[in-house]
Amino acid sequence: MNVIETHGLTKHYNKGKIKALTNVSLTVPQGQIFSLLGPNGAGKTTLIKLLLTIVFPTSGSAKLLGKDISDYTSHFKLGYLAENHRFPEFLTARQVLYYYGKMSGVEKAKLDVKIPQLLELVNLGDWGDTKIRKFSKGMLQRMGIAQALTNDPELLFLDEPTDGIDPVGRREIRDLLQELRNQGKTIFLNSHLLSEVERISDSVAILKHGELIRQGTVEDFISIKKQYLLQIAEGNETLKNICKTNEIPLISQNGHFIVSVHDDAHLNHLIDRLREKEIVIQGITPRKISLEDFFIDVIEEKAEVV
Ligand SMILES: Nc1ncnc2c1ncn2[C@@H]1O[C@H](COP(=O)(O)OP(=O)(O)O)[C@@H](O)[C@H]1O
Ligand SMILES: [Mg+2]
Repeated sequence: MNVIETHGLTKHYNKGKIKALTNVSLTVPQGQIFSLLGPNGAGKTTLIKLLLTIVFPTSGSAKLLGKDISDYTSHFKLGYLAENHRFPEFLTARQVLYYYGKMSGVEKAKLDVKIPQLLELVNLGDWGDTKIRKFSKGMLQRMGIAQALTNDPELLFLDEPTDGIDPVGRREIRDLLQELRNQGKTIFLNSHLLSEVERISDSVAILKHGELIRQGTVEDFISIKKQYLLQIAEGNETLKNICKTNEIPLISQNGHFIVSVHDDAHLNHLIDRLREKEIVIQGITPRKISLEDFFIDVIEEKAEVV
């Protein structure tokens, strides 16, 4: 089952001058960690706000847990960690969780049992009676995740949960998210850092200037490990066609071509097809690539995905 479905979701501000999100259609299956990636300003927060009806779409529609987003009854099954959230600093960690739990409609008796468990889960078991003002950024983010879990949601929205946190804190959050997925929850994660989420995400979508430019499983992205810079004398169109039929991603950059292949056999298959068409190959140079580089290539204007 898909827990999130959007159809042509669009949000334009200022009479269309600011295109925060344009025609986004995506689906998120149950039980996954789904990461929405893109640079700052790409429209990630806007998408979450639309799904939670904090803002309303210019056009398009969406469903959460099988119901149209206008049906608020599904909100009781959702958890939300807002970007740059602020808790009242004069409250203790425990008081914050009661406060948010009550706002989510959870009875006090249930919270009495749940809150100590949540504090343990996010590694703040010894900090329940400490005031929020004493907390580090990493502790505040973990509090934010605990807050989003008070109503035991099926679907969690986390907007930049690791932003501004040191590497140890980030790792703790990644471990926590995996544990929540193992409990069967679906997690929708926004991040501007690919390296942060690539290790834990089941599927990934990339937004750029409000448009969805890539969507797939992490394997789809990770399988693109080997890249070669290919120089050919002529036959650009033939190369494009061969890559298309053989599902070899091709990027054109500064007059050169970059092909992405799984392994040497895959590369040689491409060479055979090119030679069959009598394309003269002038050079093939291996190019080191990380998933991060690939992400940046796709995001930056300099690389055109053919
Ligand atoms: N309330 C608003 N009014 C006008 N423009 C907005 C508003 N909210 C967001 N935007 C603009 O929409 C674009 C997408 O923003 P946002 O969704 O916050 O991006 P991200 O979360 O990917 O950084 C940005 O250009 C931002 O300035
Ligand atoms: Mg944002």
